[in-house]
Amino acid sequence: MLRPVVDISNVQKIYGKKTENQHYALNGVSLTIDQGEFVGIMGPSGAGKTTLLNVISTLDQPTSGTIKISGTDLTQMNQTQLADFRSEKLGFIFQEFNLLENLTIYENIALPLSLQGVSSKKIKPSVENVARKLGIMETLNKYPTAVSGGQKQRAAAARAIVHDPALILADEPTGSLDTKNAKSLLGAMEDLNEQHDVTIMMVTHDPFSASYCKRILFIQDGAIYKVIHRTGSKQEFYQEILDVLSEVGTSKAME
Ligand SMILES: Nc1ncnc2c1ncn2[C@@H]1O[C@H](COP(=O)(O)OP(=O)(O)OP(=O)(O)O)[C@@H](O)[C@H]1O
Ligand SMILES: [Mg+2]
Repeated sequence: MLRPVVDISNVQKIYGKKTENQHYALNGVSLTIDQGEFVGIMGPSGAGKTTLLNVISTLDQPTSGTIKISGTDLTQMNQTQLADFRSEKLGFIFQEFNLLENLTIYENIALPLSLQGVSSKKIKPSVENVARKLGIMETLNKYPTAVSGGQKQRAAAARAIVHDPALILADEPTGSLDTKNAKSLLGAMEDLNEQHDVTIMMVTHDPFSASYCKRILFIQDGAIYKVIHRTGSKQEFYQEILDVLSEVGTSKAME
């Protein structure tokens, strides 16, 4: 049996001191994600989606519970070990592209490898490989201000995968894209997942983006309350997602 890529057990994240009003951003979340899965996280604003992604990404620490990534227990690591782990094993795609304006697209994509001290000779084929995969070869020598929003987003995706991470974490990756560019990014992520067995965890509000996932976890008040799996087409799954979201809307209205 392969180890799951993500294995978290009974994770709580509590904000506020004991003497104050405490807020349970995560209230006992357990989940596992296997290699090659494409998992979506949905739920209303404030549900705990970003918090969940942040504790898995080591950017934030849980109040209690265990988090293992590819078998490594993050809660046992110190800050230096966490930083190394993050740069080697994880790839990030955020809503804001977070490209550095004073570096070219090539240099931006190369960043995770440069930071790990990989030689520039080895970096070149890796960068070109992902740039080709994502269709942005012609942008490599340009600066971020001179390329389109969709190209920036794909450059950010290229940077997220250039070092062959165990897991890609995406928080609203299509949030600031128009339909055409959103489709192109989602298509690229789907291809990475299906053709290259990359494991992806994606937070999204958008049912269309979510329909690209194979499994969706719905979160409310810091807990998973529903899980659905894609068994048929994206169109069918899209409808199923809308149905779940409308159920939630109804139950909320009845509270
Ligand atoms: N640093 C913090 N201090 C105190 N409370 C916080 C902090 N960060 C988040 N929270 C609270 O934790 C809860 C979960 O926040 P989180 O950002 O995970 O929500 P989300 O599901 O990502 O929402 P959105 O869809 O709006 O991005 C919210 O009620 C939020 O106000
Ligand atoms: Mg969020």
